Amino acid sequence: MSDEKALFCKLNTLENADKDSPVTKKHVPVITVPPVLKTGEFYDVKITVGEMEHPNENEHFIQWIEFYIGSVYLGRFDFAPVMTKPEITIPLKLSHSGLDSTLRAISRCNRHGLWEGTAQVKTE
Ligand SMILES: [Fe+2]
Repeated sequence: MSDEKALFCKLNTLENADKDSPVTKKHVPVITVPPVLKTGEFYDVKITVGEMEHPNENEHFIQWIEFYIGSVYLGRFDFAPVMTKPEITIPLKLSHSGLDSTLRAISRCNRHGLWEGTAQVKTE
């Protein structure tokens, strides 16, 4: 099995992929969020795909991004190639204080499979 085909056999993350590979750098979602969130207030969570720019062509593009806190589903956005860019900003309000939680973004590339990026947040 080629390396590219093997990418479709798992959820690829910074932990299980080659961190220094351009493939990894173009696919792991990046979550930008303040590290501490006050409960009951909205904060913008920005998700982009890759610390390096990913191709955005009909033959090779990011098909969708899903957003979770832990295993709790929060949202999803589907993209058309060329005319849209795989970037989203989601207002997020948490209602429980004292949480130390992992925000997770999962994206799918039509040629390189599923990729997960995470960010830790605390609530007060
Ligand atoms: Fe890709």
